[in-house]
Order: sequence, then C-alpha cells, then structure tokens
Amino acid sequence: MSAGSGSPYAFGRHELASHSLIHVSDPHFLAGGAKLGGRYDVEENFARTLEAIRAVHPNPTAIVVTGDLADLGEPDAYRRLRAAVEPVAAELDTHVVWVAGNHDERPALRAEMLGLEPTEEPVTGIWDLDGVRLIALDTSVPGWHHGDLDEGQLTWLAEVLADPAPSGTLLAMHHPPLPSHVPLFDILELRHQDELADVIRGSDVRGILAGHLHYSSHGTFAGVPVSVASATCYTMNVARPAAEVNGMDAAQAFQLVHVYADTITHTVIPVTGAETGEYFSEAWLERMARLSPEERLEAFSRKPAR
Ligand SMILES: [Fe+2]
Ligand SMILES: [Fe+2]
Repeated sequence: MSAGSGSPYAFGRHELASHSLIHVSDPHFLAGGAKLGGRYDVEENFARTLEAIRAVHPNPTAIVVTGDLADLGEPDAYRRLRAAVEPVAAELDTHVVWVAGNHDERPALRAEMLGLEPTEEPVTGIWDLDGVRLIALDTSVPGWHHGDLDEGQLTWLAEVLADPAPSGTLLAMHHPPLPSHVPLFDILELRHQDELADVIRGSDVRGILAGHLHYSSHGTFAGVPVSVASATCYTMNVARPAAEVNGMDAAQAFQLVHVYADTITHTVIPVTGAETGEYFSEAWLERMARLSPEERLEAFSRKPAR
C-alpha cells in the first residue's frame, strides 16, 4: 500500500484510504502561453492548480488529466503543459496520466506528451496503480467536438475488463457518459453510450473520471459512479439560468479521489486564495491521537452546555 490518505490519523469507523488520486481536467494550453479567447490566462490558472495539488497531498498515487490538454492541439502547447506538470510530478513521485479530449489533436498529443508516433490512433492506456487499474479511453473524434467510442476501443475495453484487477478499475475519459442540464451540451455528448454500458455492466469498474463540462458534476452510468472534474482554465458559471450559462474566470477546481476498500470519494477542491483559519493543525491532531476514543468524543463532539 502506498500513497494513503496523507494522514496517519483515523479515528472513525473507516480504514484510511489505500490510494489518493488527483483528478484534473481541461487545462486548454495554447502555443506561446497565449490567453484563451484573449481573456483567460490558462497557464497562470494552471500554476495555481499545481500549487494546490502540491499542498493537498505529498505523494498522490497518480495525477489524472482528463483531456482538453491543449485548446488547439498545437505542439508547443503540449510542450508547455509537460514542462509545467513534470517537475511537480517528479517532486511528488507520482505518475501522470494524460487523456485526450475534443480540443486535442491526437498526432501532436502522442508525439509531444507520450513520445509516440504522431498518428490518429486513439490515445489509450492501462496503469496498475498498486492494485487499482486505471484505464484511459479516448473519446475524441478527429475533426469534431462531440465524443464517441468506436467498436475497436469497446472491444479492447471488454477484453481488458474480462480479467478483474485486485482493487477494481477506474476509467478515465474526457466526455462524461452523463446528461447535462445546459442547453446544446447534448450535441457535444458521448455517442454509443448504450454500447459502453453493456461493456461496463458486471465488470470491476468502480468509478469513471471525466471532464469536458467545465463544471463539477456527478451521476451514475450503468450503475457506476461518474465524477466530472471542473476545468483549470475557465469554468461555466452554472449559478445562472441554464440558457445563460457562460464561461467565467473563477471557481476553477480539481478533485482529490480517495479509494477505500468499500467506497471511493471525490472531493471537489476549489483553487482559491481565500483567507483561511488556523484552528486545526498537525499538533492538534497529535493531541487528539493521545486521547482515548471517549475523551476524543467528549473533546470534539460534545456541545457546550447552554
Ligand atoms: Fe474543455
Ligand atoms: Fe471538451
């Protein structure tokens, strides 16, 4: 077991998490560090995300980036993203899993991020993360923004899933197999979802990590929880009527995924510079650890007498 919850303290009924993954999505880098739409400083926003990643966990099992790595698929954009992430991944001694999205161009992504031949072959992969199997699917469709999975990928996925992993499987894919309440988003949704459901149902898939929406969302697909990470570049302001949802340079977020023996949690982490209290600390946790369970309950759960 490696890369647990990052805390040696477990006072409740659950064991500590066996794996902690960072789930990031939609960096949308551009060549030359250009601003997206002339408006969003995607590199600065991503740098703030990396700072937060370094803060939340000293050694995550993996950093999974669920697509739209580059906005226009430019080789320099991929080089810049790699240059930003690789030092942090090395410092945290973790794997980085790159997933293709609709804004990516497979040949450039393959060449610049993975050192592969610059072809239109789907960007897929399988990682054994200390017993958790992570499978990256490529839902991009060359020349289009909607998503799809062809028979080749579905057959390959079924073959891989025929052999269960010790701690189950997570799928990482850009287009989420979920509906969106935002009008027109369904035009850009994933096609052949019924066929994907047939492959997943009854398998050891325990969760699906996705992106694409630029807002955090959760649902189930073929009985499997789906978690959509918001974007690091800009997010959709869903605090508006659905027909008026538009992008904003705020509320960027990523997710901390904790894998337990019997559940998986997805914690949405806002990337914010807000002033924060200093009540809880490592020293405070150590004091709590020295107490008996009854004393801890008294110290932390008892309401003051009125
Ligand atoms: Fe995107
Ligand atoms: Fe997308």
